[in-house]
Amino acid sequence: MIHIFNKGKDRAKPTFLMLHGTGGNELDLLPLAGMIDEQASVLSVRGNVLENGMPRFFRRLAEGVFDEEDLLIRTKELNEFLNEAADKYEFDRNNIIAIGYSNGANIAASLLFHYQNALKGAILHHPMVPRRGIDLPDLTGTNVFIAAGTNDPICSPSESSELQTLLENAKADVVLHWENRGHQLTREEVEAAADWFRNL
Ligand code: MLT
Repeated sequence: MIHIFNKGKDRAKPTFLMLHGTGGNELDLLPLAGMIDEQASVLSVRGNVLENGMPRFFRRLAEGVFDEEDLLIRTKELNEFLNEAADKYEFDRNNIIAIGYSNGANIAASLLFHYQNALKGAILHHPMVPRRGIDLPDLTGTNVFIAAGTNDPICSPSESSELQTLLENAKADVVLHWENRGHQLTREEVEAAADWFRNL
């Protein structure tokens, strides 16, 4: 997968896995990583799917309707890429925190839904429920921060709460942070995520 790896000053810190929104790329979220912890290593990945020229992490059939078969293939592909990247760049595979926005948050949530040890934690900005009707792995010890908007037309408040419940039922430790905004990624929610990270 097309990506950037920036080796951090402190190798004991988690590696941040940056996952952009639809139409973004691996450069978009680099400033966020610095706002959360500027000493951590950063692996920033570009989605392998193109929708009218816009990179994404998996196909969708319509807005908010995911192509489930492609979601599974792409989630596996990303998980395997993380294994390879950890070997190549010599970072701890068991200490990755995903930071994703929108479509990137959705593939991060899908990693949590399908693979027990894919991520140590995740900061999910405006995620949806990636898939319903499946048993999640035991996510004991996995920390998740969700930032949601009370007026988000893409990820409804009820869907944000549903995601929190599904992850908590799988024993993840989840914080759900609300902004009185829409789908946009706000500085305030990134600062809230930074506070959450500092207190882990
Ligand atoms: C998705 O397709 O993952 C969601 O609708 C969010 C987005 O617009 O990318």
